Amino acid sequence: AAEPGNKKSEQLGQFRDDATGQLMTTNTGTKINDDNNSLKAGDRGPSLLEDFILREKITHFDHERIPERVVHARGSGAHGVFKLYESQSAVTKALFLNDTETETPVFVRFSTVAGSKGSSDLARDVRGFAVRFYTQEGNFDLVGNNMPVFFIQDAIKFPDLIHAVKPEPDNEMPQAASAHDTFWDFISLTPESAHMVMWAMSDRALPRSLRMMEGFGVHTFRFVNAEGVASFVKFHWKPLLGVHSVAWDEAQNISGKDPDFHRRDLWDAIESGAFPEWELGVQIIPEEDEFKFEFDLLDSTKLVPEELVPVQRIGKMTLNRNPDNFFAETEQVAFHLGHIVPGIDFTNDPLLQGRLFSYTDTQLLRLGGPNFQEIPINRPIVPVYNNQRDGHMRQAINSGKTSYSPNTLGGNSPAQAKAAEGGFVSYNERIDARKIRARSKSFLDHFSQAKLFFNSQSTPEQNHIVDALSFELGKVKTVAIRERMLGILSLIDKGLAGGVAYALGLHVPTPETPINKNVPADADIADYESVIFE
Ligand code: HEM
Repeated sequence: AAEPGNKKSEQLGQFRDDATGQLMTTNTGTKINDDNNSLKAGDRGPSLLEDFILREKITHFDHERIPERVVHARGSGAHGVFKLYESQSAVTKALFLNDTETETPVFVRFSTVAGSKGSSDLARDVRGFAVRFYTQEGNFDLVGNNMPVFFIQDAIKFPDLIHAVKPEPDNEMPQAASAHDTFWDFISLTPESAHMVMWAMSDRALPRSLRMMEGFGVHTFRFVNAEGVASFVKFHWKPLLGVHSVAWDEAQNISGKDPDFHRRDLWDAIESGAFPEWELGVQIIPEEDEFKFEFDLLDSTKLVPEELVPVQRIGKMTLNRNPDNFFAETEQVAFHLGHIVPGIDFTNDPLLQGRLFSYTDTQLLRLGGPNFQEIPINRPIVPVYNNQRDGHMRQAINSGKTSYSPNTLGGNSPAQAKAAEGGFVSYNERIDARKIRARSKSFLDHFSQAKLFFNSQSTPEQNHIVDALSFELGKVKTVAIRERMLGILSLIDKGLAGGVAYALGLHVPTPETPINKNVPADADIADYESVIFE
C-alpha cells in the first residue's frame, strides 16, 4: 500500500493495479469469458487464427524478457527514506542536504557484478550499492559499490575488465566466480588493480548480509555551496548493524543450499519490520588541498584514509518497504551517476567521466528506447518539462504547437531556469591543457595502498586473503599466469606471496622493479609500464 506522505510511494500508487474482485479483460478492455481454452474448430481442433484472446496472451508472454544488465545483472531492491541530521549548507546547496525536515524517498538496489541474473548471492564478488534519492530538485543517484576503490583507473579499460571476469566466451564457464584464467590473466597484467584485488580477495567480498555492508561512492565528487565555493567529497554508507562477512566455506555451503540467501534476508528483514539502516558519511576536502596527498584524488584505485580525513556522518537511510513487483521496480530502475542535482558535481576522474557515458547508453538498449525515464520507478517526484518529444512508448501527451526553444509562438514551451531558480550550473573549473591519450604520472603508485589494506587486516583476515588467492589461483590452468600473480603479490607483501606460493607449490619469482614513486619525473609513461611486464 502507498505510504502516506512519501511522495514517491504516492506516485507509484497511481500505477499499482488491484484486480481483486474484478473481471478479467483483454489489454483492450474486452471482458474474457474463458481464459483456459483456445478457440478451436470442433472439439479436437485445429486452433483458429482468429482467437485474439490466445494470440494476445501468448504474444505478451513471448515478449516478457528484456536483456539483463551487462554487469550487475543480479540484484535486490528496496524502498526507504533518507533523513538529514544537520544542514550541510556550508559545503553544498543541494536541498536534500540542507533541509533537515523533509524525508527524502530513496530506492536502493544491491547487486553482484559478474554473475548473471540467476546466479548465487554468495559468489566472491564486489557488491553494487546504488541509491536513488527522489529529491525536491530531481533524482540524485549515488551509484557505488561495497568497496571504496576500483580495479582500473580509466573507463576505456572497463570492457576488457568485464570480458575478463565474465564467463569464458567459448564455454560460458565459470558462472559467477573469478576463479579462472581470463580474469587472472588480465589482473596479472594490470598492476593498477592490486589494491582492489586485495579487497576482492578479503572477507569484504563475502558479506553476511546486504544489511551488513558498507557502501562507497568510490570516485571523488564535488560539493558546491550557494556562494559557488567547491570542495571535494567522498561518499560513504555505514551500516548500523556493523560490517560482517561469512567465511568461504560458509559461502560455498549457502550458495548450494540457498542461492537467494541475501535477497531473502533483505526481504524478510523488511517484512518483519527490522528495517536496515545506514548512515551517510562524507569526507570533505577543501579545494585548495587537492594536491596535499601522496595519491591523486582523481584516481579511483585510491581511497582517502579516514585517519587523514575523518568521515562525518550527516544523515540516515532506512529501508522500510519491499517493492511490489520485482520487474517493474528492481529490474526497470535505471541508475546513473549523471543523475545529479545542483550542489553536487563531477570531477575529472577518468573512470567517472567514462561512466557518465555508459549508463544511459546501455539503458537505451536495455529498456527499449529514449522514454525509460517515464517508467514509474524512474520518474522524479518533481514535474518534467522540456522539448524532448516522441520515440518508442512515449507516455506523456505533450500539448501545444511548439516544442523548441528559443520560441516566440509560446504554446507550451517551458523557460530555462536561472541559477537562482534552481537551474543546474556546472562548476566552472578552470581547464587549460593539451589533449593527450596517456595516464597521469600521479596515477602510477599502484602498491602503497594495497600494502596499507593488507597491513590493516588482522591475522585471521590476512589468512583468509592467502586462502582466497590460493583457491582462486589454484583454479588457473596457465602456470605463467599464477607466477605473474605471485610477482604482483610479492610487491604487496612478501609473506602474502610466500603463503600463496606454498599453497600452489610454486616459487615466488623475483619481481621486476615497479616502485612507481621512483620513476623519474620526465619518464615516458608507456616506457614505464613496460618496465614491469615486458
Ligand atoms: C551498473 C557501480 C564502473 C558500466 C552498475 C551498478 C552499480 C555500478 C552499483 C548497478 C546499478 C543497478 O543496481 O542497477 C559501479 C562503480 C564503478 C563502476 C562503483 C566504479 C567506480 C563502471 C564503468 C563502466 C560501468 C567504468 C563503464 C565504462 C556499467 C553498466 C551498468 C553498470 C553498463 C549496467 C547499467 C544498467 O543496465 O542499468 N555499476 N560501476 N560501470 N555499470 Fe558500473
